[in-house]
Amino acid sequence: MNLLIMGAPGGGKGTQAEILAKALSIPTISTGAMLRNVIALKAELGNQAKKYIDSGNLVPDGVITGIVIDRLKEQDCKDGYILDGFPRTLKQAESLETAGIQIDNAIVLKVTDEEIINRVVGRRVCSKCGATYHISYNPSKVEGVCDVCSAQLITRDDDNTKTVRHRLATYHSQTEPVINFYAKRDKLIVVEGIGSVEEISQKLLSALGV
Ligand code: AP5
Repeated sequence: MNLLIMGAPGGGKGTQAEILAKALSIPTISTGAMLRNVIALKAELGNQAKKYIDSGNLVPDGVITGIVIDRLKEQDCKDGYILDGFPRTLKQAESLETAGIQIDNAIVLKVTDEEIINRVVGRRVCSKCGATYHISYNPSKVEGVCDVCSAQLITRDDDNTKTVRHRLATYHSQTEPVINFYAKRDKLIVVEGIGSVEEISQKLLSALGV
């Protein structure tokens, strides 16, 4: 099954993508995580990407699209995958089609802007394995320490109120049109993203018929 999951920044895409990936035994391809890995290498491409991300803007289509299309050709994607955070522009969606990549369903998580700000500002991520927590909704067992690998939890540089507001504006202007792109192709599944993580994943699995 080839899926993609869309929604506002901090709406729970990554959290739900990981659950679906386990349930369906397919990999998650997160463009945000891929870009953060490139940034960690401290090479020129990563330094440029960091400027876009930290200001709440999208990385140019030409940079991200080729990376994703190449990644989807890898062996672990042959039985399906979940794209998390791609496509984020109409041009990216069109590029997938032009490359002959078929998507079975595009999932949209609907969450209000105010809830988004609460979630993002309270998010903590593991500096080593990338596991995600929230200081109130999903705290680690020991404050500041990852449950999975015991590394230190950090706040992402783009998880502050000012940048999140800009990320939301970018989402409304550039990514929301992609929802209509998949609606026209009859691929869309829209799920309310408010409620417990488990409630939302149950709704998603039943919408997918799993
Ligand atoms: P990316 O990493 O994809 O960031 P994002 O879209 O802003 O999404 P987030 O990772 O912030 O959130 P999420 O929806 O995965 O939510 P999560 O599950 O963590 O991209 C970062 C940047 O890279 C972009 O801004 C852009 O610059 C660039 N980029 C990436 N892809 C690109 C592309 N295709 N083109 C161009 N540029 C691109 O949850 C958030 C918090 O809420 C967590 O703390 C979690 O614990 C909590 N939470 C989750 N579910 C619930 C729930 N049900 N109830 C309460 N809390 C919850």
